[in-house]
Amino acid sequence: MALFDDGYTANPHPALAELRQTGPAHRVTSPAGIPFWLVTRWDEARLVLTDPSLSKQQPMDGLPPQLRSALTTQMLLRDPPDHTRLRRLVSAGFTPRRTEALRPRIEQLTDRLLGAFAADAEVDVIDRLAVPLPFEVICELLGIPAAERGPFRAWSDTIIVGGADMSAALAQTVAYFRDLLTRKRVRPADDLLSTLAVIVDDGDRLSDDELVGMALLLVVAGHETTANLIGNTVHLLSRHPSQRSRLRDDPGLVTAVVEEVLRMASPSATSTYRVTTRPITLGDTTIPAGEQVLVSLLAANRDPGRFTDPNTFDPGRPDGGHLAFGHGIHFCLGAPLARMEAQIAVRRLFARHPDLEVTVAPSELRWRTGLLMHGLRSLPIRLEGQ
Ligand code: HEM
Repeated sequence: MALFDDGYTANPHPALAELRQTGPAHRVTSPAGIPFWLVTRWDEARLVLTDPSLSKQQPMDGLPPQLRSALTTQMLLRDPPDHTRLRRLVSAGFTPRRTEALRPRIEQLTDRLLGAFAADAEVDVIDRLAVPLPFEVICELLGIPAAERGPFRAWSDTIIVGGADMSAALAQTVAYFRDLLTRKRVRPADDLLSTLAVIVDDGDRLSDDELVGMALLLVVAGHETTANLIGNTVHLLSRHPSQRSRLRDDPGLVTAVVEEVLRMASPSATSTYRVTTRPITLGDTTIPAGEQVLVSLLAANRDPGRFTDPNTFDPGRPDGGHLAFGHGIHFCLGAPLARMEAQIAVRRLFARHPDLEVTVAPSELRWRTGLLMHGLRSLPIRLEGQ
């Protein structure tokens, strides 16, 4: 199946469209030989994301105990009632008010990053804006001191890329968060980690393992995904000049633009893995118990059964309920933050550089590989046009 070759990386949509047409779920084997099912239609995607018989809990027997505790305590990898409890406690600290309070800081960070473009005629917008902005924002949210962000950035990049050094980087990050937590307890500040460390709900509180797991989850869930959203938005706008001039005339349209990019170029291309605890039937396909299932959010969000002209970039189209942030109990906790970051970054970039141009042809763009993420590795732009 053409899901793992260079053609898919450059343009995943033809292969996904073919799968969507032929059936609601497909058994796939990864290049590492691991079998799983890929769900591609909107109806079935929503069903899989909400069906409680699909579990998020995976055995993690092979991991060292310290890492196991940091992963098995993450709400994204738990089912109810554990998930319900963790989500309640974390939501009590990660409130809409806390997200909104980050707005001026995000604007400031964006301006600082854009200010550093000034001397250059051409920049890589991924490297200089899309990646560093969400990273700095997560550091602000958690309360990671500026002087400690350098090594932390190196570990988190290694974790996201995966590969041989990943376990070591995970162990370093976990040790770092344990130490940071101890310091926050001694000297609390107005940040999420300090807040969550003291939150008590009905006599219940987060343990140290759970706090460290949560911090790790926020870094992994919120960094590359948001970078992809910013990059994909700049890319799609640069290819649709009429939408771009509409945005220039009415900057408020950025909300609709970002929403349409989430649908059409879903930054998290799939959900995370779920495992069936009983056989489930999707249309004419039955997935046996004990199988791994991935939902292709990218495919579901272009399902013609749900969205009119799904391959047309149409900001402001009627809300069709895209699934870019998932659905059901695991719906993305950081969605308001991600939207705000992308809206600020894109609005300010195009306000400062209304004539910016992407300098490589669409066929030469470098995309991240793999099924899980949909984003660019680099996006070179000329700032002033010609
Ligand atoms: C969950 C996408 C940004 C924190 C999810 C899920 C998706 C998603 C699809 C559900 C996964 C599943 O059900 O298997 C995205 C996208 C983002 C983004 C596309 C950016 C454009 C963020 C940010 C944060 C964050 C900025 C926090 C700083 C989380 C958390 C969960 C989650 C904590 C787990 C929720 C739970 O299990 O109840 N995200 N995310 N995400 N996301 Fe995001």
